[in-house]
Amino acid sequence: MSNAVLLDGQGRQIDYLRLSVTDRCDFRCVYCMAEDMTFLPRDQVLSLEEIHRVARLFVGLGVRKIRLTGGEPLVRKGIVDLCERIAALPDLDELVMTSNGSQLTRLARPLAQAGVKRLNISLDSLNTLKFRTITRTGDLGQVLAGIEAAREAGFERIKLNSVIMKGRNDDEVNALVDFAIARNIDISFIEEMPLGHVGRSRGEAFFSSDQVRAQIAQRHALIDSEESSGGPARYVRLEQHPRTRIGFISPHSHNFCSTCNRVRLTAEGRLLLCLGHENSVDLRELLRRHPEDDAPLLDAILAGLHRKPERHEFSSEGEVQVVRFMNASGG
Ligand code: 5AD
Ligand code: SF4
Repeated sequence: MSNAVLLDGQGRQIDYLRLSVTDRCDFRCVYCMAEDMTFLPRDQVLSLEEIHRVARLFVGLGVRKIRLTGGEPLVRKGIVDLCERIAALPDLDELVMTSNGSQLTRLARPLAQAGVKRLNISLDSLNTLKFRTITRTGDLGQVLAGIEAAREAGFERIKLNSVIMKGRNDDEVNALVDFAIARNIDISFIEEMPLGHVGRSRGEAFFSSDQVRAQIAQRHALIDSEESSGGPARYVRLEQHPRTRIGFISPHSHNFCSTCNRVRLTAEGRLLLCLGHENSVDLRELLRRHPEDDAPLLDAILAGLHRKPERHEFSSEGEVQVVRFMNASGG
């Protein structure tokens, strides 16, 4: 067993790595992408071998939880094998994934068998037309079938993620809560973050976690909960439905940077130290220059962590401060 502990320059323990395995996606969600996106040429995306190497190095340094994200991780060929290899790393406690659900009828069971413990599935609407408007290309029926497949596949936990936007799906908060309750799964509501120029003003669509919470409180008795899933979400429980937790991820209205425990690797191998800052470390160049020697990579990772910013600077005016798109950042 390794007892390694990874600390950043502010003394925060970094034990969580989010790995984007592709910038591609079969959806074009309005808050994530522009309508016509250009994706990275293949040779600029890390190979599965390179991704595995980065995972191994971070686990050796003290990371205990890895989340695979995208884009949509399940559109990457060879993803199930990669999951199996990462899950097998000694000292990793937990491999988890965020998915849009579109491929889960086919892949939920292989993923669970490969060792993926928990799944976050995006679901912003239960109305076929609205779902299509928000995702631009997504098919609600396919995602709902994917959620059912995931429930049958034996994951330890499934959580839905909903980005609530004024005028688009703010009237569906309680329908989404009811959907989660009926399936004994968790749900988190996420405030939209201003990442990338997606072709409209975001201030217009801002809907705060407090507004979401007030809607739920009209229907349910809420109990504040101190529990944490090792992330920025704050949780409440429902008095009448103890098996569903409701989370709020509120980058605007509640700053959670002081307990930040994570870093991200983009699909092209840039180590992002904070979602709200542009600074990053180019690990791809080092991976390719030193195929056999891990020392330069370890040095670069540690030097990067030393520079991890103290906090993000998103504001609720919704103006873009970071030009990266979310699909390139790894959710
Ligand atoms: N703001 C907030 N959440 C976002 N996601 C993607 N883009 C954004 C954004 N701009 C989240 C959504 C989606 C997951 C993959 O990433 O929850 O479901
Ligand atoms: Fe794809 Fe997720 Fe971005 Fe939607 S939010 S376009 S599902 S990566």
